[in-house]
Amino acid sequence: MPENKVNTLITDSPQEAARILLRGGLVIFPTETVYGIGASAFHHSACKRIYDVKKRPMDNPLILHVENITSLRVCALVETEGDLVFQKFSPGPITGIFPKHNQDLFTAGLKTVAVRIPSNPTAREFLEACGVPVAAPSANLSGKPSLTKLEYILEEFSGKVDCILQGEEPRIGIESTVIDFTEDPPVLLRPGFVDQKDLFSVLPNLRILNTLDEIAESPRSPGLKYRHYAPSCKVVLADSLQSAPQSVAQIGFTFFLNSIYQVRVSSNEEYMKFLYSFFVECDRRKIAEAWCEIPKEGRGREALLNRISKAVAK
Ligand code: TXA
Ligand code: MG
Repeated sequence: MPENKVNTLITDSPQEAARILLRGGLVIFPTETVYGIGASAFHHSACKRIYDVKKRPMDNPLILHVENITSLRVCALVETEGDLVFQKFSPGPITGIFPKHNQDLFTAGLKTVAVRIPSNPTAREFLEACGVPVAAPSANLSGKPSLTKLEYILEEFSGKVDCILQGEEPRIGIESTVIDFTEDPPVLLRPGFVDQKDLFSVLPNLRILNTLDEIAESPRSPGLKYRHYAPSCKVVLADSLQSAPQSVAQIGFTFFLNSIYQVRVSSNEEYMKFLYSFFVECDRRKIAEAWCEIPKEGRGREALLNRISKAVAK
């Protein structure tokens, strides 16, 4: 169904946005990672509309967003390990996959459910006002980079969703860390800001899938087999930007006077924050090739390599 004739309300009132969601509408809202496009998880036709708007394959399930651990338990069967991780890292950029507790929730036919508790203050007020779990994938067209700025959301989704909630912009910039607690030992399915080192402190037996192929072939997370997060242009992971031709765009730690478009960062945290907006800007400027400098050792490296490698593999 084409989605081009919807009246989109732009508001900074989480309560107004929640009323629209509770009537079966689609609401885009900021989280600390990226923007999400949400529907009530009890409203299955609204959840299915998310797939139309995003052009998302129907076998890729959605993450539910809730405001606290009590609501998490209403959706999911959380046992000791999940509990330890959520007590330590939530609210924050971490998602758990658990057996589904409430059969009325939309989970794209699965018996498991992915849930997270965002820390972004706008998201929290919104979720509290909703009072129901909000099913929300990242707000981007399927296959494209996740969006991290209101400007890009307005450009891509005005006229396609019922409401866009304005508030605190995402500060992390890449999607949440995803852990599958239905496996023993639990498996890290998607690296993120909360990294292996953080997780090993509470989950010493956490299993890491090492290569993109291993991740792509994993039946555990249907969405991970899709090569996404990619701009239209060719993406190159470069040891250094020294040898980059002048006609390419660059993101990294080095500064070059002659590059046609560049984003210079001083840490992996900044790199995570700006990676997707760099990709979006490369598309806007119709740049043919984008070079990404290899991230530094330490926090963020695994998550950045994962996202950049996916864009390279496209
Ligand atoms: O930071 C984030 O997680 C953002 C913000 C909006 O919260 N959301 C996000 O959603 O990145 P999405 O749909 O783009 O990514 C969710 C990932 C997908 O790879 C999906 O396949 C996986 O989680 N997933 C969701 N439910 C699952 C389930 N029951 N079992 C396995 N994987 C699941
Ligand atoms: Mg996504």
